Amino acid sequence: MAPSNVSATRLSALLRPAAGGSPAYLHIADALRLLIVDGRIPVGSRIPSERDLTLALGLSRTTITRSYAKLRDRGYITSRRGSGSLAALPGEASHRLAGPLTPGDSEEGKLDLTVAALPAPPGTAAAFASAIDHLPGYLTGSGYHPLGLEVLRTAIALRFNERGVPTEPNQIIVTSGALSSMALVAATYLRPGDRVVMDSPTYPNTMATLRRAGARIIGVGVEPAGWDIDALESTIRRAKPAMSVLIPDFHNPVGCLMPDDERAQVSRSWSRSGTIGVVDETLIDFPADRDAAAPLPMAAHGTRTVTVGSASKSFWGGLRIGWIRATTDQVAQLSESRLALDLAAPVLEQLVLLQLMADRERIVKYQQERVRQSRSALCDAIQTALPHWLLHQPAGGLSIWCELPDALSTAVVAAAEKQDLLLGAGPRFAVDGGLERFLRLTCTQHSDTMLDAVARMAHAWEDAQVNRNARPHPGHLVA
Ligand SMILES: Cc1ncc(COP(=O)(O)O)c(C=O)c1O
Repeated sequence: MAPSNVSATRLSALLRPAAGGSPAYLHIADALRLLIVDGRIPVGSRIPSERDLTLALGLSRTTITRSYAKLRDRGYITSRRGSGSLAALPGEASHRLAGPLTPGDSEEGKLDLTVAALPAPPGTAAAFASAIDHLPGYLTGSGYHPLGLEVLRTAIALRFNERGVPTEPNQIIVTSGALSSMALVAATYLRPGDRVVMDSPTYPNTMATLRRAGARIIGVGVEPAGWDIDALESTIRRAKPAMSVLIPDFHNPVGCLMPDDERAQVSRSWSRSGTIGVVDETLIDFPADRDAAAPLPMAAHGTRTVTVGSASKSFWGGLRIGWIRATTDQVAQLSESRLALDLAAPVLEQLVLLQLMADRERIVKYQQERVRQSRSALCDAIQTALPHWLLHQPAGGLSIWCELPDALSTAVVAAAEKQDLLLGAGPRFAVDGGLERFLRLTCTQHSDTMLDAVARMAHAWEDAQVNRNARPHPGHLVA
């Protein structure tokens, strides 16, 4: 895709001139760096040529050349012959501030609130041991089960039946996790250039998966209060997308839950426009309120809705097991394209999940309690230390969507990194950028860790504000 351009006129308006003190080239380099870090100049966009900015600012060419050289050295712009200079973020920062989230365990001393995953629940090692006892029954075969083990498909189908959607085992494919399911669905149903309508913000890794399959994503806003269903409907009507992907159950990152009537409305809209509706139920087991009634699954409203689910949050991400529920003809299409992807999921982990599902109620309750404690520690600490931050209480999920009093989320994330705290900036979750007022904070870690994280957050917030206020004022560019 061609990079967007930031004109010299716009950039000179954004660059507040120096109050004096530091040389002009340093001032311009620093001001440009902050604009990039704050997301006001999007990463990847083309900044003006040295010549154009020299003319727009009325400074010497040497000043601008030195500013750009400084930014290039520090990794904030990349320059290529023929394509000009593009805004960038240096190594670690770009990795942390943009693109798909990188799950994993944090290094000693670092706190990572970007990972929405829990440790394995008690009983997981015993489930592995018991799965090994059942393994010999499978060792005489090839080990390839492209649709998944029949026993596990039956257990997954049973769970859909319990939730109110009649489902046969032959409507289930076992995969290596929800993201892998999404990649399989994209490989089966998307061609390069196809439009996909999804809620925005959303889970960045799904965006990356769809884009890799060539999708042109159209985002429709979702907020803590819910979806703009009319906008969703009219966008689907106008764009006639090949696919529409939603997270109606405890949306990541926003945390809302789509009510039954809206589920029916969206499903009708999908079927009218011939759009394949794909629903990600990865967070289904994490309502914030223990007693809240669950709406019917989206699949109950549309027979051709494809549902993606996972064991990663309810049980453990290390299993790398997920599934797809679809019609039997869709299952046939999906299993054919799987032959060009990963062939099948591992046998032992499927057996482990079967063991864990037999104890599902206890395990899920345990995992839910962990999240409730973590969330309540996080919210209490933020309300005390950062009372101006607005916490949107979610219907569920594994994170809090937090609204800052100023559009400083990228700057806060960059400042938090200096405190060894990793946070998710709003723009990372947005289909088209923006959302600089928001932060996603995951609540999957122990309460004590959350208290430590909030103390670091408060420092980061102070740091980001000081930096912003330190930005010099108009009218004093020093040549
Ligand atoms: C909405 C959503 N979908 C998919 C995933 C990835 O799940 P899995 O580990 O099953 O691939 C996540 C992980 O955070 C998620 O939040």
